Order: sequence, then C-alpha cells, then structure tokens
Amino acid sequence: MMKNQSQWKTSTGFILASAGSAIGLGAMWKFPYMAGVYGGGAFLLLFLIFTLLVGLPLLIMEFTVGKMGRTYTTKIYEKLTARKWLNIIGWNGNLAVFILFAFYSVIGGWIIIYLFKVLMQLVTFNDSALSKINFDQIITNPWLTIVGQGIFILLTMIIVMLGVEQGLEKASKFMMPLLFICLIIIVIKSLSLDGAMAGVRYILEPRLDDISVKGILFALGQSFFTLSLGTTGMITYASYASKEMTIKTSAISIVIMNILVSVLAGLAIFPAISAFGYKPTEGPGLLFKVLPSVFEQMSFGTLSYFVFLILFLFAALTSSISLLELNVSNFTKNDNTKRKKVAVIGSILVFLLSIPATLSFGSLSHIQFGVGSIFDNMDFLVSNILMPLGALGTTLVVGHLLKIEELKAHFGRDKFKLFIPWYLLIKFVLPVVIVVIFIVQFI
Ligand code: TRP
Repeated sequence: MMKNQSQWKTSTGFILASAGSAIGLGAMWKFPYMAGVYGGGAFLLLFLIFTLLVGLPLLIMEFTVGKMGRTYTTKIYEKLTARKWLNIIGWNGNLAVFILFAFYSVIGGWIIIYLFKVLMQLVTFNDSALSKINFDQIITNPWLTIVGQGIFILLTMIIVMLGVEQGLEKASKFMMPLLFICLIIIVIKSLSLDGAMAGVRYILEPRLDDISVKGILFALGQSFFTLSLGTTGMITYASYASKEMTIKTSAISIVIMNILVSVLAGLAIFPAISAFGYKPTEGPGLLFKVLPSVFEQMSFGTLSYFVFLILFLFAALTSSISLLELNVSNFTKNDNTKRKKVAVIGSILVFLLSIPATLSFGSLSHIQFGVGSIFDNMDFLVSNILMPLGALGTTLVVGHLLKIEELKAHFGRDKFKLFIPWYLLIKFVLPVVIVVIFIVQFI
C-alpha cells in the first residue's frame, strides 16, 4: 500500500487502489456460489438492495472517517473522538482481516494449484482435458492444498515485505480491465451454450418464494464482504487521500464495479451450470468446477483458461496484500523498520490458521457445527459478525460523536442534497438495521 500520507495525487489513483483491494474473490468466487445456494435471482435482488441502501452509505461513511482521521485504524477512533477505548473498533477490523486472510488463502491456493495443472496441460499440448481436472481430488489432498495456500501467502508476504505494492497497483491499471474483458468473453461463450437460458433465468429472475431468512442474512454478509466494510480496509485507503478527493464519486465507482463484476461472474457461471448439468448448490467449489468446461468449448481453451487464472490470481493478490498490509501497518504503527519482521510473523500465523480451513474440505470435513464446516464458520464469523460489528461501531461514532459540520465539509459538494438523508441513515436507520439482522441470525 502506501507509506506517506496523502499519497493519491489523483482521484483515479485512489479509486484504482481501493477498487483493487475491494474487488477480489468476493465478487468473482463468493457471489456465484452464494447465489447458487440461496435462491439465484432472489439472492441477486437482495444483494443489490443491500449493496445500494446499506453498503453504499456505509462505504461513504468509512471513506469520510479515513479522510478525517488520516492515521492507521487502531488509532483513528481515538484521534477523532478523544476516547481511547473506541480504538477497539479498529482492533475488531484487524481481527476480521486476519481471519479473512486465512480462509481467503485457501481459495488463493486453489487458483495456484489450477494454474500449475493447466500449465502442465499447456506444455504437453493436452488441449481438451480441462474438465479432467478433478476438483474433489484436489481439495481433499492435504499436502497439495497446504502447499498451494502456502505459496499464496508467501507471494503476498514477499510483496508486502518488499513494499512494492505500488508497482502492483500500477499494474492493476491494465490487469483489472483485462480481467473484465476476459469475464465478458466467458459470459459470451457461456450464453452461447445449448441450454444456457435456464441458467440465465435462474440468476436474473427474482423468484420471491426463494427468499429465506438465511438468504437475507447471507446477502447482507455478501455486501459487507465485497465492499470490505467494517474491516477498516476502506478507512485506511481514504486516510491517504488528499483533501480534494471526492468521496462520493469514489464510493459509487467501487459499488458499481463490484456489482458489475458480481453480475458478470453470475452470467459466466449459471448458463454453464444449466448447459452442462452442474448443481447450482455446489458450494465454494462452484467456479472451479464449472469454468474448465466452458473454456474447453473455446478454441485455445487451455491457453485462455491459463490467462484467466493469472488475472484471477492477480485480483486475489491485490486483495490479500491489502489484508496483510492492514495488520502490518497497525502493528508497526507505520514504523517501517519493523515492517519485514511483522509481515513474516503475521504471515506465519495466518498460515497456521489457514490449515484447519483448508483441511475442512478434506480430512476435517466431518467437523460440522454452527453454519457448517470450519471454513464456513470462519467466513460467517468475519462476514456476518465481525464486519457488521465494525460497521455498527463506526456508524455510532459518526452519527453521535463527530460534528455534523465537519462531516458535511468532508462530504464535499452536494448538488443533490444528499448529505442530510445520508446522515440520518447513518445516525438512526442503519444501526437499527444492523442490530436487528444481527439478532435475527441467532434465533
Ligand atoms: N472485498 C474483498 C473481496 O471481495 C474482501 C475484503 C474484505 C478485503 N475486507 C477486506 C480485502 C479488507 C482487503 C482488505 O475479495
């Protein structure tokens, strides 16, 4: 990420960096599988409503806090309110990103394993065997998956240690658009398959009967996850923004990009599900099971799949780097002499925590409690408990402890008179919404 304050000289730089962090596995991997389990079009509708009515105002709030506080997030609440104990909101975010990185790296590891498998097929000119990659065999192989996620964490660690994130952010200027184009190509291919329409209907048509309490909870959790809310990630990015940076434009851009990537991922996967006869309720492996069949239908399919995986890995890495960086900057308090040591220790701890997560797809799959496997529970703890708690804490601080004039000044030009509605949402409505949903999930 960034060393000195006020680093983003242009709004575009700030948007690119925060979008690189926010857009990752959440939109591409998690959205389709969640939608597949919780009602397809109904889930998409709920996700859109939550993202626009809850996520967007919260994102604007987090950007405002970052811009006002301008420091690392285990200090920022104290700086803004003169109450030291409120830094606990920052620590909550730290804990959230720590656990998040652990289960994120499981999926990052899968991408790396697939990359190697596809590379092997490429060098042996084995052009039609993509669907022979056996997902279940991979995820139940403890050594393979642990090595895969170890490589993913190692890559993240090296980049953070060397402090070369800025280079990566520059690269995202063309890598992200490329990924976007790649997604569109997959969507076109997927839509052209025989039997695609059933899948299109499944993901786009909101059948209200398919809405369940669980679906509502997980759709909200999905909005939090994709927008990185409550983890203080977005607060950190905004704390480096210059005074003139427009918070609303940046927040709206990130929300739109996230929705777009989620919908495209859905349109890439679901037509193929109906065309090839997969089950939408496949769970976390959905993307990995379905995509090889789509690429197999393309000319230069193996090569295209390889390129896609590289871009996908890149998107996952720009997020994981930011996850590790958050912990590093909070523990070093921006003192760069400790940077390497903290990055190494943090990565080792994350690696240890990621092992039970990965084994929960194999030898530990019999351990089921709460919402499911160890992996499912880690995700639930982050997306449905720690992230909403963090966001709730920040709404209370912003709505009740910060001066309204100051908030207004940071809100920026207000042509459409949105400040007051936004402020009322943050002060009264959203805390209640979060608390109600929080309680509902325990009864
Ligand atoms: N939004 C990220 C994704 O969709 C995940 C995420 C949540 C994240 N909180 C974060 C990434 C904080 C970086 C920093 O993949």
